[in-house]
Amino acid sequence: MHHQVIIEPFKIKTVEPIYMTTEEERICFLEQAHYNPFLLHSDQVLIDLLTDSGTSAMSTRQWSAMMSGDESYAGARSWLKLERVIQELTGYPHILPTHQGRAAERILYGYLGGKGKVFLSNTHFDTTRANIEFSGATAIDCPIEEAHHPSLDHPFKGNMDVVKLETGIKQHGANNISAVILTVTNNTGGGQPVSMENTEAISARCRKYGVLFIIDACRVAENAYFIKHREKGYENKPYKQIAQEMFSLADGCVMSAKKDGLVNIGGFLALQDNQISDACTNLLIITEGFTTYGGLAGRDMEAMAVGLEEVFEEDYLKYRIRSTQYLGEKISDMGIPIMLPVGGHAVYVDSKALYPHIPVDQYPGQALVCELYLKGGIRCVEVGSVMFGRQDEQGQLIPASMELVRLAIPRRVYTQSHVDYVIEVFQEILDTKNSVRGMRITHEPKLLRHFSAHFERI
Ligand SMILES: Cc1ncc(COP(=O)(O)O)c(C=O)c1O
Repeated sequence: MHHQVIIEPFKIKTVEPIYMTTEEERICFLEQAHYNPFLLHSDQVLIDLLTDSGTSAMSTRQWSAMMSGDESYAGARSWLKLERVIQELTGYPHILPTHQGRAAERILYGYLGGKGKVFLSNTHFDTTRANIEFSGATAIDCPIEEAHHPSLDHPFKGNMDVVKLETGIKQHGANNISAVILTVTNNTGGGQPVSMENTEAISARCRKYGVLFIIDACRVAENAYFIKHREKGYENKPYKQIAQEMFSLADGCVMSAKKDGLVNIGGFLALQDNQISDACTNLLIITEGFTTYGGLAGRDMEAMAVGLEEVFEEDYLKYRIRSTQYLGEKISDMGIPIMLPVGGHAVYVDSKALYPHIPVDQYPGQALVCELYLKGGIRCVEVGSVMFGRQDEQGQLIPASMELVRLAIPRRVYTQSHVDYVIEVFQEILDTKNSVRGMRITHEPKLLRHFSAHFERI
């Protein structure tokens, strides 16, 4: 095709209303939500870019598959179908269904972790880190240096620093390393892809030291898109084959199917090793459910089986990645500092660069999140010191390495005019940036504070 415009590769059959709100109403709603958009009601939101997780629109194929869901407790047809699809995709024999990604994480990392144990990753996602630390183990991030510089362009900014990885393994002792986790794409690091070359290098180190290698495969199809279009030798390989090659380099994977599984709920754990699989199966039965449904209904497994195939379709992936880039390129051209290059599922705005007058201990990212809601009813999330900041012994903030704001794009949900509206709101953000003030936290829980913390304006 020679046309410039990349159209949505679907027609809309069912529509859901968006509730329009005025700025005056939003001032009130945000105050009631303690300046934390996680606490807003969804009908107070115009464009919801909070997450790409569990927010996908399902296809006619998925909806029709759901009607044939087999709700048997044991040995359901729907399970056998899903198991086949995942085995074929990953190449791993043991598949454990869970209700979402973090349940798979809790089971695997809870089993492997514990006091004195260490996990190494390109970047641990927040639930990954929380599950590891909850077990008493330590989570260490080893991203490449380029990942720390938002404006620096790099084709595979999600890569792991292999030298740091090897040093980490030697320093802590291979016996104490529970696993190396490679998150593709690297969500926390800006939705940036990981190359096959990097995956091979990590795999080789893990084999050398006898360390378990796990892939966090939430966005493995989007990662495959970037490999095909950016890494030499992959130009002619189908996306699915690229993902299969990646899985073949590891010992197992965890996946939240709420992303590239194109479903609203679901996840799984897939493993090569019989012993680890047996131990995890015991935990699965205690907390999730029997082995042939985990935390899922038969109809959920049907939708997931179809979603895991549809996500690798050429037209879908092209539209998906290009539509995220469209938003990123437009606001970047306008002068909004963003993480470069644009990632697969989200655009990350560098709030520290946008609001240089707001110190990091006044959370510039949270300030931007609130501005986007007030100006345009757009909901998104801070990925900075609210999410990852720590306190030292004196109670001073140890800030995160970056102060990003994530605009995550739900799959197959919004059209180009919705995105054009978001771009228009960003012009207002730019015009009023100097008058924006920082935030302070007035209440916070012990773990994962960004979900429920309360804030006020300084
Ligand atoms: C990279 C990564 N890992 C794990 C998870 C956890 O998955 P879930 O939300 O399904 O529990 C997420 C969710 O956003 C994620 O992005």
